[in-house]
Amino acid sequence: MDVDDGDAGLELVHLLRRITGRLDLMAAEFAAANGLHPTDLRALIHLLDARREELAATPGWLSGKLALNSASVTALVDRLVRAGYVRRTRDNRDRRRVLLTVQDEAIRLGWSFYGGIITDMVDAMREFDGAELAVARRFLDRMHDVVRADKPTNPVVRLVPLDEATTERLLSVAVHEARPTDVMPTQDGADTWTPATENAFREFHRSHFHGANGTVMYAVESEGSLTGMIRMARVSQDEAETGMWLGRSARGKGIGTAALRALVAEAAAAGVRTIVADTTSGNSAALGALRTCGATLTHHGDDVRAELPIG
Ligand SMILES: CC(C)(COP(=O)(O)OP(=O)(O)OC[C@H]1O[C@@H](n2cnc3c(N)ncnc32)[C@H](O)[C@@H]1OP(=O)(O)O)[C@@H](O)C(=O)NCCC(=O)NCCS
Repeated sequence: MDVDDGDAGLELVHLLRRITGRLDLMAAEFAAANGLHPTDLRALIHLLDARREELAATPGWLSGKLALNSASVTALVDRLVRAGYVRRTRDNRDRRRVLLTVQDEAIRLGWSFYGGIITDMVDAMREFDGAELAVARRFLDRMHDVVRADKPTNPVVRLVPLDEATTERLLSVAVHEARPTDVMPTQDGADTWTPATENAFREFHRSHFHGANGTVMYAVESEGSLTGMIRMARVSQDEAETGMWLGRSARGKGIGTAALRALVAEAAAAGVRTIVADTTSGNSAALGALRTCGATLTHHGDDVRAELPIG
């Protein structure tokens, strides 16, 4: 759609540009004063956000956030490691995976940069009431969606049937990026990862290896990384039930929708005529993925039943 000079939105776009321009300038000055490249500071901010949101940060994740190729990210992480801001560790369960952990020094650095400005911004926000802040939030979320470097680009996914080794790699994603209740039935609602819940995860997935008990479980692989799980549980000759979860850092990029499409293809090949799923009215991401793949949604209070005809 065209934009003309009289468009009311343009003024807001210019304001947003002024704010980001000012913050960029402050960040560049701060980076120079601390002997950092501006991109190194951006990387540190992403890593600090990941720590706060309990996301497992890997070099691949960081390269998506910064829109940099993997060689540049390797050089950048080398610099941050040398400066003592970041550590590289091997994931205990998935030895192929490198995790990036920010060190206390980086937290001190981040706070010395942002502490003052965050306090001033939060103070200024007290001039607005809850409803106004809710609109501001919705507006900023929407603008962020437009400029995101990692927005969905029809990701390519592969469904990998679970075996021992893949289950162990999947457990690593679950422990770092999901809660037990997101990923399996739990006893007494236990929702923290302990050796017992980790073993329950292994046992639960093992009980469905090779389609045992009528359920096939697949790890969802996107761009070479495991991101979550999708299952197909045969209910009858014609019908199968599905459910899925992704690690937090993989959500909202179209991977869930792509995984569901891939599952529909598997189901069609296995002679399934209808896929059903149960979710809740508040789960917009699950509902969006199901709707995009052609499901009809029926609401019963907060519960939603999805029916997806095949073929
Ligand atoms: C549900 C889940 C698998 C969906 O996968 P996803 O990759 O995050 O979803 P997608 O990026 O493919 O987005 C699907 C749709 O939901 C929308 N969406 C994604 N995240 C959203 C969010 N946080 N809020 C609102 N809508 C969202 C997308 O815009 C898209 O809608 P569209 O097709 O109309 O554009 C994933 O979010 C997840 O693992 N959630 C936690 C576990 C869970 O709830 N599992 C489902 C149980 S039934």
